[in-house]
Amino acid sequence: MKPIISYPFILVCATFLAHALVGAYPSGAPDTACDQMRPMHRTSKDNMSSPLIEPLSGGASYFTIGVNTTQVGPGDHVAVTITAKENFYFEGFLLQARSNENGTTRHGTFMDTSKDGKLVCENAVTHNSNSHKSNVTVIWMAPKTTVNDIKFVATIVKGYSEIYMQLTSATSFSVGSGVTLIPSMVIVLLMVFSAVIYN
Ligand SMILES: *[C@@H]1O[C@H](CO)[C@@H](O)[C@H](O)[C@H]1NC(C)=O
Ligand SMILES: *[C@@H]1O[C@H](CO)[C@@H](O)[C@H](O)[C@H]1NC(C)=O
Ligand SMILES: *[C@@H]1O[C@H](CO)[C@@H](O)[C@H](O)[C@H]1NC(C)=O
Ligand SMILES: *[C@@H]1O[C@H](CO)[C@@H](O)[C@H](O)[C@H]1NC(C)=O
Repeated sequence: MKPIISYPFILVCATFLAHALVGAYPSGAPDTACDQMRPMHRTSKDNMSSPLIEPLSGGASYFTIGVNTTQVGPGDHVAVTITAKENFYFEGFLLQARSNENGTTRHGTFMDTSKDGKLVCENAVTHNSNSHKSNVTVIWMAPKTTVNDIKFVATIVKGYSEIYMQLTSATSFSVGSGVTLIPSMVIVLLMVFSAVIYN
């Protein structure tokens, strides 16, 4: 009996799959990279058994993550900018808002309309080309609910074998605290205080 799927066809599929899984990602990180935030770049590009490339340390002296505000209400938009230090550049990035730099919970989402990035995994953003960039700006949308202690966390790829992980924005922030909570708390405290005074 003639096999329905030929051997060359399987070979082509397997080769394609291997490339899709282990190759560099010129058009952005795949969805599976969102939890680990680690690019599956291997020491030998075409050998899936070869070890992953170890991330480099010291990325914070080459790249910064800035925000245009840390006063964030539910559903607010925040402009997040990754900037390379002078004479430095990067090719790729994966950016998320996380509970803390070691946390795995991702918050909010990113607008998919930016020229500098595209949405992946519903709440992460990645590059849409591997051109050399000195900066990118993307717009993050805060969740509709309040969340404490969020930071932006990024993995930055300068080149296939130059990977920096766990870069974070300088200050953590909360969604929907401070600005809206404090005035109402002051009013409650004043009411309690006057109730005590006048009784
Ligand atoms: C792939 O990498 C593994 C681990 O480094 C090595 O043992 C193996 O020989 C490599 N295979 C090929 C085809 O190069
Ligand atoms: C920050 O940038 C976003 C997106 O452009 C904008 O909607 C928001 O008003 C800005 N916030 C501040 C405080 O400038
Ligand atoms: C993440 O947590 C591990 C284990 O608790 C710790 O060794 C590491 O320094 C943390 N990473 C950062 C960037 O804080
Ligand atoms: C940001 O990058 C663009 C090119 O993509 C460049 O024209 C611009 O000067 C850069 N801005 C800063 C502040 O580095």
